[in-house]
Amino acid sequence: MTYRIALLPGDGIGPEVTNAAVKIIDLVTSKFNIDISYETYDIGGICYEKHGTPLIEETLDGCYNSDAVFLGAVGGYEWENLPHHLKPEAALLKLREKLELFANIRPAKVYSSMLDNSSLKREVLDGTDFIVLRELTGGIYFGKPRGIEDSRGFNTMVYRTEEVERIARKAFEIALKRDKVVTSVDKANVLEVSQFWRNVVEKVHKDYPKIKLNHMYVDNAAMQIVRDPKQFDVILTSNIFGDIISDISGMITGSLGMLPSASIGNKYTLYEPVHGSAPDIAGQKKANPIAAISSISMMFEHSFDMQKASEIIEKAITKALSDGFRTADIATEGCKIVTTDEFTDIIAENMERIFTDEAIGVFLL
Ligand code: IPM
Ligand code: MN
Repeated sequence: MTYRIALLPGDGIGPEVTNAAVKIIDLVTSKFNIDISYETYDIGGICYEKHGTPLIEETLDGCYNSDAVFLGAVGGYEWENLPHHLKPEAALLKLREKLELFANIRPAKVYSSMLDNSSLKREVLDGTDFIVLRELTGGIYFGKPRGIEDSRGFNTMVYRTEEVERIARKAFEIALKRDKVVTSVDKANVLEVSQFWRNVVEKVHKDYPKIKLNHMYVDNAAMQIVRDPKQFDVILTSNIFGDIISDISGMITGSLGMLPSASIGNKYTLYEPVHGSAPDIAGQKKANPIAAISSISMMFEHSFDMQKASEIIEKAITKALSDGFRTADIATEGCKIVTTDEFTDIIAENMERIFTDEAIGVFLL
């Protein structure tokens, strides 16, 4: 069995963390007796420089022909003033739309050795483990009409029944494998589109009697996430609210450099670190590869159904952190500062050791 992975390294630290991701995939490939092939494609600012547009057909075709896509990051100062449709970010939105990646999973889990990295108190955070499930192909990001005229700018927040149904179903399915609590976040006290969202979520919930469903207004949810993050299990929300809520959630875990993500549709899947292109540290070997490597762990779980591989990667990351290794962005007093490549090698060595310790061979596939 050969899995085809489309690699889209992109801009800034994207290529560096993509290298880290590939190293970890190669290790899993050699241990689990599977074959993985890669093709690399242009996206974002680098793609604009080469081809005059941030997304080309060849990249899209490569994604259509893949079993999973890995994206490093897009964006950078030099492309900030381009017209909307030529900005690197436009490529990302187009990709989400074309691949119909309607469900975006962003886990917010605190590693215990990172508890003192957050701006929040350790006792507030300890044990936090929730998932933000963000609707990714609808809502105000894609609604029409939209535009800028001389004296006004406008966007439309709209959701159709099917769009809310499928993301709600996904939330309930994910919650069934966790603590069985879904908090749907909206602004139903003000927005009709949110009242509609709420009604549809309620309807879908009837198929999932084992799940406890709560509703929360988005302003309150933002406050509750910093007040008591442990109360959440699965947060289900729309595109724009999820964009905001997931950054808040990321930061409570200590650093955005830790956060992986999976974007899932019915046909395609894309994995991407949440941190973005960080142009200020690009090329300096400082990038934190954890988000990328953790995204690969999600890839093995969601796209290739290899739960065991995913667990080993997570254990290896946890050990590297508890052994005191840190990249510069998450360095604290007394830790051992290492480069992107060194950190990746440490995680790879830990994985080797776990493989050996658990004597995992082809038998467990
Ligand atoms: C994210 C990013 C994107 C978004 C941008 C880069 C288009 O902020 O993935 O959260 O707003 O969705
Ligand atoms: Mn965002």
